[in-house]
Amino acid sequence: MNEPLYKLVYISRNEIKGDDATILHEIEQILASSRRKNPIANISGALMFNAGCFAQVLEGPHDDIQNSFERIQCDPRHSHVVVLSFEPTSRREFSNWSMAYLGADSTASAKFGGIMHESGFDAELLKADRIFDLLKEHLLEAE
Ligand SMILES: Cc1cc2nc3c(=O)[nH]c(=O)nc-3n(C[C@H](O)[C@H](O)[C@H](O)COP(=O)(O)O)c2cc1C
Repeated sequence: MNEPLYKLVYISRNEIKGDDATILHEIEQILASSRRKNPIANISGALMFNAGCFAQVLEGPHDDIQNSFERIQCDPRHSHVVVLSFEPTSRREFSNWSMAYLGADSTASAKFGGIMHESGFDAELLKADRIFDLLKEHLLEAE
């Protein structure tokens, strides 16, 4: 029953072309799919977008994350998908969200944009914890 929990943190590059409204519309489609599918797959998490990049946290049982992530990473709406961490965790931090979203106009995303620029968009220099903590802090604040 109580399967061990895992969390996966990745970043990727946006491949949705067009103006802000087009990008927003596509992200709304992604969120609609996520909010429909993730509860069935036992997955909760958060997605952030800024500076042409996505960061996402997926939490749930190991195999459920793996199955969903295999599908997500093949999505042509993003590329250069880099897993920053995939490790056991003691509890869900985003249990209230099938997929929370922080867009480019949020404080968290502005900080994410800053972190991405600071790293020179080099995934090697990005720390999963920093992205995870940023999402956690801002979503708990918003709650
Ligand atoms: C950055 C990004 C994050 C995504 N996150 C999820 C997710 O958490 N859950 C999910 O089911 N699909 C997610 N998707 C969408 C999937 O890749 C796929 O398009 C979708 O699951 C197909 O669902 P559909 O049945 O609505 O066509 C994401 C796509 C992108 C580009």
